[in-house]
Amino acid sequence: MQKGTYLRNGPGLWHIEDYNFRHLFDGYATLVKLQFENGRLIAGHRQIESEAYKAARKNKKVCFREFSEVPKYENFMAYVGDIAKLFSGASLTDNANTGVVKLGDGRVVCLTETQKGSLVINPNSLETLGRLEYSDSLGGLIHSAHPIVTDAEFLTLLPDLVNPGYLVVRMEPGTNERKVIGRVNCRNGPAPGWVHSFPVTEHYVVVPEMPLRYCAQNLLRAEPTPLYKFEWRPESKAFLHVMCKASGKIVASVEVPLFVTFHFINAYEEEDEDGRVTAIIADCCEHNADATILDQLRLQNLRSFNGKDDLLPDARVGRFTIPLDGSPYGKLESALEPDEHGRGMDMCSINPTKLGKKYRYAYACGAQRPCHFPNTLTKLDLVKKKAKNWHEAGAVPSEPFFKNGNGYALLLDGSTFEEIARAKLPYGLPYGLHGCWVPKE
Ligand SMILES: [Fe+2]
Repeated sequence: MQKGTYLRNGPGLWHIEDYNFRHLFDGYATLVKLQFENGRLIAGHRQIESEAYKAARKNKKVCFREFSEVPKYENFMAYVGDIAKLFSGASLTDNANTGVVKLGDGRVVCLTETQKGSLVINPNSLETLGRLEYSDSLGGLIHSAHPIVTDAEFLTLLPDLVNPGYLVVRMEPGTNERKVIGRVNCRNGPAPGWVHSFPVTEHYVVVPEMPLRYCAQNLLRAEPTPLYKFEWRPESKAFLHVMCKASGKIVASVEVPLFVTFHFINAYEEEDEDGRVTAIIADCCEHNADATILDQLRLQNLRSFNGKDDLLPDARVGRFTIPLDGSPYGKLESALEPDEHGRGMDMCSINPTKLGKKYRYAYACGAQRPCHFPNTLTKLDLVKKKAKNWHEAGAVPSEPFFKNGNGYALLLDGSTFEEIARAKLPYGLPYGLHGCWVPKE
């Protein structure tokens, strides 16, 4: 096996003193590393030292606006002061608990939905080195938590909450400056759809406009709503926009059936016999246009499973077809029968060499029911429309890259999906979200 370090990020600490957080996504970020060297595995973990985490430790209370937790105000004036700070972003969290990526220049960055939560870490010691300060003047407070990162570039979306739309931006290795490729205006309002992730093809960026939209009022609330900072606006419809990476021009903007997705899997260009691109295919983990999974991830729900009730909402591999002939509508279908993977589907990954290209296999977490959380590792064959599922009672897998759940790392053969090796860790690991691989120089 290649020498290197697998890093995984995710929420890992859900309480400050005796105050318990309510939602999975509120947890302060814990980095886990698995270092593969000479047939040995060295494991470690460390808290990410965000300002939000350090302030909470010091003051023994939540001091920044987290996913659902907000600071408890001493009085009304303190609340008003915090609202003022919200518009500047000062009160938003920098708890970088979502993903970890290795930039083309070698820097390793932990990310979350807020731009200020872009923290550079040392992949060996897991020490937090400081904030990645974007040197451009694009402003804004939020971005997609899942940029597309290759050795050549870093692409992301900056939602514009004031004038609903998205900036598509690129940052080159060795710089902190994001440059605008182009802008997409939302087809409907009152706010852009949540963009946790987005897909790209070799030549195009696909910008999703989901009817689960950001909501300024919910952002200001002191108590969480069932959809947190978002709201479900089916009347505002759903759209996909396709932008040319080279020119920034919009080559398609189609209405699609209502959908809910957090994670796009991949996208590629469909060609006719003459090599002309006729359509874009974009695949995602699609929650049957139902956003209740967000509320299902409350810690109270996750910790109270009785082993019998089937509480995980159904999901599928949603496949969008976006025609490039000027048609106003795109299609959304299941890429394979959802029962193949127990109607659970999230936390997807692909072979990175297939990014933006026609591909056959994807890896994700599916479900063995009854369950309340995705509990299998699944390998999807999108050509044969079949899935191979790995399940072990009590194990909670995170995004398959390697499996790390319940205190061990599991290595599965990429083609047969059979177990090759398993390393037991001396302690249980918190649930993790997304990871990356840092090869040894
Ligand atoms: Fe994610």
